Amino acid sequence: MKKEGKSCIALFASGSGSNVQAIAEAVQTGEIPAHIALLVCDQPDAYVIKRAEQLNIPVFSFRAKEYASKAEFEQEIVHRLREAGVDFIFLAGYMRLIGETLLHAYRGKIVNIHPSLLPAFPGKDAIGQAFNAQVKIAGVTVHFVDEGMDTGPIIDQESVRMAEDETRESLQRKIQEVEHELYPRVIKKLLTEAVMEGITE
Ligand code: GAR
Repeated sequence: MKKEGKSCIALFASGSGSNVQAIAEAVQTGEIPAHIALLVCDQPDAYVIKRAEQLNIPVFSFRAKEYASKAEFEQEIVHRLREAGVDFIFLAGYMRLIGETLLHAYRGKIVNIHPSLLPAFPGKDAIGQAFNAQVKIAGVTVHFVDEGMDTGPIIDQESVRMAEDETRESLQRKIQEVEHELYPRVIKKLLTEAVMEGITE
């Protein structure tokens, strides 16, 4: 639902939230034409929640184990998203597979960032996987979410060259720097196109 001509988006995260921060800053400067209506977080102790509070983003946090099933907590999430008028979901370090309930409610409108050049190194610790494989080119992918693990259609990618003396930590820093620039740029493009194509209400 558009608010003052802007798309309403939700961010999903589980950890530190540096990508949430980068997206929120791009929203604040007006680079991304959106209103962040909700942060969904499955780790109530995660640092991203503190960031959201400082950024004045409403938070829904939950513990999966307090629900009988994935369908049950996703129903609650969908309810909160609908209530907040959310059009698009951007996963920013949300370390959980999206299930049928959310996919059905927001098909084609859920986007993820993953720290590898997919289809290489899907799943957990993609940066560690790339580092251990000693690839020459690592990178970042932004893609639509489907039922699989990091398998949906690719929207954009950017490569990161491994230096001779690269460490796991320095690679992570380089990848995160790329993420913080790439993700806001892709979000801006998607939302601008969506508004032009009348996808948002
Ligand atoms: C990011 O590097 C993101 O690409 C990755 O989690 C990190 C979250 O960092 N996501 C995945 O691995 C998803 N499969 P952040 O909490 O500082 O934004």
